[in-house]
Amino acid sequence: MSQEFFSEIPKPKEFEVLTKRIQQFCEKHADTPRIVLVTSGGTTVPLEKNTVRFIDNFSIGTRGSSSCEYFLSQPCTAVVFLHRVNSLRPFTRHFTNTNFFELLVPGDDGQIMVSQEHFPKVKKNLERWSLCQKDGSLLEVPFTSLSDYLWMLRVCCEAFKPLGSKVIIYLAAAVSDFYIPNYEMAEHKLQSSEGAPDIQLKMVPKMLKPLVRDWVPDAFVASFKLETDDEILIKKAKKALEIYHHELVIANLLQTRKERVVFVSNDAEEIIQVSQEEREAGTEIEAKIVDRLIALHQSFVEK
Ligand code: PMT
Repeated sequence: MSQEFFSEIPKPKEFEVLTKRIQQFCEKHADTPRIVLVTSGGTTVPLEKNTVRFIDNFSIGTRGSSSCEYFLSQPCTAVVFLHRVNSLRPFTRHFTNTNFFELLVPGDDGQIMVSQEHFPKVKKNLERWSLCQKDGSLLEVPFTSLSDYLWMLRVCCEAFKPLGSKVIIYLAAAVSDFYIPNYEMAEHKLQSSEGAPDIQLKMVPKMLKPLVRDWVPDAFVASFKLETDDEILIKKAKKALEIYHHELVIANLLQTRKERVVFVSNDAEEIIQVSQEEREAGTEIEAKIVDRLIALHQSFVEK
């Protein structure tokens, strides 16, 4: 089923280049004790091949980019960060609400310096980012559309397959369940003069199925479940475990996703939350999520 589906969706423009980079990263980290794939941000569903208009979703990649930083702060860990173009990225995410020019001050002799106010934060994040560049522990892989995402997800997983149980797949991206097949998509911009388009969206098959069964059968897979209705959240998380047989579903509600999640596994339901005081002191829920996940992965590997 998924094979058939992939024949209906276009490959990303830089498919070969990105695939090579991912394969080289995996070869380099063949002996690294823990390899994580973090997916992050929303996927677009284009309405035209030469895309002017598309369907999108709310995700800006806070969960993925912050989790990526916490994974990288664990010892002996390498991360592939599969992220939506222009969504938040590790380390630079701390400056997205700051006007770029406010970070800088002109010096006397034509030099440009970082302002005193922002200096500690810039230094800290620059040092952490530089370290990842130097030791090659982070590979960032961009996507925009649903089809780019699915192709690169598959490539990442297939490259990770030989690495076995030391792999963590952390599916925080908000992935569209609907798409327009390539053969039904207009070539050029839809014309308003022709009236409102009658577009029939089709279901995207759940990629968790081939992912868990075929692409990375030995990996520790953590998917997310997002709902807006508290009444159905845990029920749907359990259902996902039943269907896909992976290790963990991290259940979150859109409204409270930055304060509370529930780890749903076959034998437990565990609430992870940050209090108001913790948040005010700068604790992010992703720090706790990643800590707990690392512990669960450790026991998974030992088993
Ligand atoms: O980026 P932020 O703004 O910080 O928001 C974070 C988040 C709310 C997006 C994140 O915490 C989250 O919940 N991500 C998953 C959202 C989602 O796609 O949920 P879902 O219930 O639609 O899908 C459940 C799982 O199925 C997901 O892990 C997804 O990877 C997977 N899926 C989805 C569609 C599809 N066709 N195939 C899949 O395998």
